[in-house]
Amino acid sequence: MPHTPELLESISRLDRDPHSLSANHYTDDGIMKQEWERIFAQSWLFAGYSDQLRQPGDYITCMAGNDPVVVVRDESGVLRAFYNICRHRGHILMKEAAGNVRGFVCPYHAWGYVTDGSLRSARHSGDVAGFEPGAFGLVAVRVEIFCGMVFVCLGSESPPVAACYPGLEEELRAYEPGIDDLHFVFRREVTIEANWKLVVENYNENYHTPVVHPALRNVLTSDYIVTPRGSYISHEARVNPEATEGFDATTIGYERHLNWWLWPNLCLMSIPQGGFRVLNIMPEGPGRTRETYDFYLPYSEPNAQQWQQILFACDTVNVEDIGVCEAVQRGQASRSFDRGRMMVDLKGRDWSEHAVVHFRNLVLDALA
Ligand code: FES
Ligand SMILES: [Fe+2]
Repeated sequence: MPHTPELLESISRLDRDPHSLSANHYTDDGIMKQEWERIFAQSWLFAGYSDQLRQPGDYITCMAGNDPVVVVRDESGVLRAFYNICRHRGHILMKEAAGNVRGFVCPYHAWGYVTDGSLRSARHSGDVAGFEPGAFGLVAVRVEIFCGMVFVCLGSESPPVAACYPGLEEELRAYEPGIDDLHFVFRREVTIEANWKLVVENYNENYHTPVVHPALRNVLTSDYIVTPRGSYISHEARVNPEATEGFDATTIGYERHLNWWLWPNLCLMSIPQGGFRVLNIMPEGPGRTRETYDFYLPYSEPNAQQWQQILFACDTVNVEDIGVCEAVQRGQASRSFDRGRMMVDLKGRDWSEHAVVHFRNLVLDALA
C-alpha cells in the first residue's frame, strides 16, 4: 500500500482515537445544520453533466446541500448557476431535473427571468412605487465543468475544482480518455433512511464486501487497495478474470475495478467498456439521504449485456449497501451505542477501514 502523507496522518490520529464518529453525528439536527454550513456550503458539489448543457436554454437542477440550484447555458452560450429560488417570495423556480427553456417563469405569481438571471418581468410592477427590477435578479452561484461533470459551489473561498483535488484529473483521464464526450444514459434515484456519512463510510471500505455482496465478492479479488489522497480517495482492485456475474470480467480490458470518492459526497466508479457510475450522496436531514446513481457512458444506447451491468449495480449491489446503511442508522439511535471501533490494518490490506478514519478526520476538521 502506498504510504501517502495523508494515510500516515490518518494512522497517527488513529492511535489517539481508533473510533468512528460518535452516534450523535448521525442523528443530531444541530450537527446536520453545521454540516450544511461548513461542509456543503463551502465545497464543490456535483450538479450533472456537460452533456446535459450543450444548447442555449439547456438547464439542470440539483440540491447543493440544503439549497436548490439551477445551472443553465444562457442565450449567449455562457454557463451560469443560480439559487433555484424566486426573488419575489421564495418559491422554488424550476422543479424539473432538466430541460430547455427560453427563460424561467415562477409557478407562483409568474415572475419571469432571463437565462442570464436578470428579472425580465414582474406582473403589475409598473404600478408598484419604488420597485427596481434590476435589484431582483437571481442570486448567482459558482459553476465549473471538470472532466465533463458540472460542479457548483455556494461559497466564495474554495479554489477551482481541479485545485481542490490535485492529481484526480490525471487518474480519471488515465482510466477514461474520452471523459469529455460521455453520455448521460440512465439515472436511478433513491431515498435512504440513513445519514449521508454512513453511506460515504460504507463506500470507502471493503471489509463488508464478502459479507454483504455475495455476487460482487466473486468479481473482486483481495488485491484491493484504498489510498486516501487528501480531499479524495482512490480505490483500485484487481478483478477475478473468471467472474461473469454482474460485471462480466471476461470483457476485454476490464482487469481493474477503479473507484474514487471526492469530498464530501461524490463517488465515481469504473464499469466494463468505460465511462463512469456516479453516486451523489445528498443529505435531506440527519436520518435521510437522497442518492442519485447515474451512468455516464461512452455509448448512449446500452446493449443487453451493458443493461445487465447497469441493473446489477443498481438492483443488487446498491440495494445491498442501502440495507446495511439503514440498519446502522437504526443502531446509532439506540441508547446502547455510542461509537464504533475502526478496524485498521497497518499494511492496508483489502479489509482495512483506514479510509473511513480518513473521512472521519476530514469531517471533524471541517466541524472544528
Ligand atoms: S414567489 Fe415567484 S412570483 Fe411570487
Ligand atoms: Fe458495498
